[in-house]
Amino acid sequence: MKILAIESSCDEFSLSIIDNGKILTNVISSQIDQHKEFGGVVPELAARLHLQNMYWVIKQAIAESQINTDEIDYIVYTAKPGLIGSLIVGKVVAETIALYLDKPIIGLDHIEGHIFGAAIDHEFIYPVLAMVVSGGHTQIEIVHSPSQFEIVGATNDDAIGECYDKVARVLGLDYPGGPIIDKLAQQGNSQTYQLPVPKDDISYDFSYSGLKTAAINLIHNLNQKSEPIILVDFAASFQLAAVTAIEHKLERAIQNYNPKTLTAAGGVSANSQIQKVILELGQKYNINNTFVPKSEYCTDNAAMMAKLAYEKFK
Ligand code: KG4
Ligand code: ZN
Repeated sequence: MKILAIESSCDEFSLSIIDNGKILTNVISSQIDQHKEFGGVVPELAARLHLQNMYWVIKQAIAESQINTDEIDYIVYTAKPGLIGSLIVGKVVAETIALYLDKPIIGLDHIEGHIFGAAIDHEFIYPVLAMVVSGGHTQIEIVHSPSQFEIVGATNDDAIGECYDKVARVLGLDYPGGPIIDKLAQQGNSQTYQLPVPKDDISYDFSYSGLKTAAINLIHNLNQKSEPIILVDFAASFQLAAVTAIEHKLERAIQNYNPKTLTAAGGVSANSQIQKVILELGQKYNINNTFVPKSEYCTDNAAMMAKLAYEKFK
């Protein structure tokens, strides 16, 4: 079974072709450099850049796959959630290819795709407990099958990735700030600055707006007092607060849902501390099937959408 997938929900335009679950190609065009100067993704610019990038992405991916396009069985694309202009470009491209090749087409969910990004190099044994952490989402999901997703907790306001990126911006760091804070944090002392663990209660829900505000206020206060901020220590203290919330809620979810697979998904799952927490909890609760996605499948890519489709069709 050969599947062609398109992912364009935010600032990446990506096309992947897989053959019985094996990745033949996964071409991703990134727009990070163009959005950097604005400190975040500008929705209209993202859609316009997709229009520029789609031609070479499609050409390169089809050439790389070394297949004849007539062999493709299904076309899939990210239908939701995402930036509307970006989503429209992907849908139109996918429908055009489907019409031209006369193949069936299906729209899929981006978050479900992120979760199956973790299944590209590993086998899922159900139920799967997935910690979804991205620029737009923070949620704990129990996956009962490729078509049955149960959201047991989600963020009430900001997502963890957004919180990382905003705090990084106020610290004067580049966009996206998440990976930069993560790198700095690994060299810092997490006890130097006091930041609150967000929504550290018995629910499975998250709230990152409080931590974001607390971190930004602390930066402003230190600046006002002309106290130099030790960047590595600030990053480590911030990361400790941000990831402790995940650790506490995840541990309770494991105790309650007894998953057979433990994993993480989404752009922020590339975070070193989150990966450490996942692997440690897997060991503590004897979940042998514990893993994190390869970094190329953490951020937005079409291979994860193709893999989701393959598991659903199977
Ligand atoms: O899943 P993704 O590519 O796009 C969305 O669907 O949101 O996630 C992007 C997010 C950004 O906020 C970025 O800063 C964050 O993932 N990110 C990280 C790390 N790598 C990427 N955040 C923390 N630590 C990282 N190592
Ligand atoms: Zn994403």
